[in-house]
Amino acid sequence: MAENGTAVRNIVVTGGGTGIGLAVATRFASDGHHVTIVGRRREVLHATVRELREESGLDVTPVVCDLADPDDVEAVLPHLPERVDVLVNNAGSRELAVGAGPHGVLARWRGDFERNVLTAVLITESLRDRFSEDGRVVTVTSVAALRGGGSYGASKAALHAWNHSLAAQLGPQGVTCNIVAPGTVAGTEFFGARLNEAELTRRAGRTLVGRVGRPADVAAAVLFLASPEAGFITGEILQCNGGELLGR
Ligand SMILES: NC(=O)c1ccc[n+]([C@@H]2O[C@H](COP(=O)([O-])OP(=O)(O)OC[C@H]3O[C@@H](n4cnc5c(N)ncnc54)[C@H](OP(=O)(O)O)[C@@H]3O)[C@@H](O)[C@H]2O)c1
Repeated sequence: MAENGTAVRNIVVTGGGTGIGLAVATRFASDGHHVTIVGRRREVLHATVRELREESGLDVTPVVCDLADPDDVEAVLPHLPERVDVLVNNAGSRELAVGAGPHGVLARWRGDFERNVLTAVLITESLRDRFSEDGRVVTVTSVAALRGGGSYGASKAALHAWNHSLAAQLGPQGVTCNIVAPGTVAGTEFFGARLNEAELTRRAGRTLVGRVGRPADVAAAVLFLASPEAGFITGEILQCNGGELLGR
């Protein structure tokens, strides 16, 4: 039994070594579930595993994989749980430093679709026969998918369309598929040095609650949609942005 009296579940969190994914993985592991975290950087995953063990006595399993690479995804399948109760598609990133001209445009668009769409779609399609009855797929997109954000926002919006069809395909077997779309979240690697004090203040001012998000805010939304109680919610987009769409 998990901490809250429910059955122990197998949870896979992509991008679980840092930021929002780490907050999600920590919550699930604290509740007593079996958690696998996936990312490209071995040293980051192993440092996270060590830290969780030493500081909180929690055990999570690291799996190194570039989720945008089909060969890599195929190769790690034996290292992922035979039965998956919850898949959190959280891995994703945005690269601003690309060149100009058609080649720059191509690099940005192709890159954003690889970084954000393929990282969710390849692993989900590969695991679809392993989802348990009452399984959960929760995919992390962005407010950029709803308010506009160039190729990055378009790639996250593509996940919204994909999620609708996934929800229809997996619904008959009891699996729900939902989206969490965060606004600005500080304390992750996503923005690198771009999120300085002035930018944080500007972004906080766009919300109705006067602050930017924390990884734990997004983790709480993910855990709700992944919970056994949320079985009648599917194909949904849960915004987690402090009212940013209304506030601007
Ligand atoms: N922070 C924000 O303000 C914000 C706002 C809206 C949405 N989001 C979304 O939230 C999600 C988590 O971002 P975050 O803010 O927590 O940033 P983060 O700290 O950079 O987390 C992203 C994680 O994804 C992993 N990852 C990236 N590409 C991968 C790939 N190809 N294969 C496997 N793992 C990959 C990264 O690890 P490796 O580099 O080791 O692979 C990293 O652990 C992303 O999808 C992001 O688009 C963030």
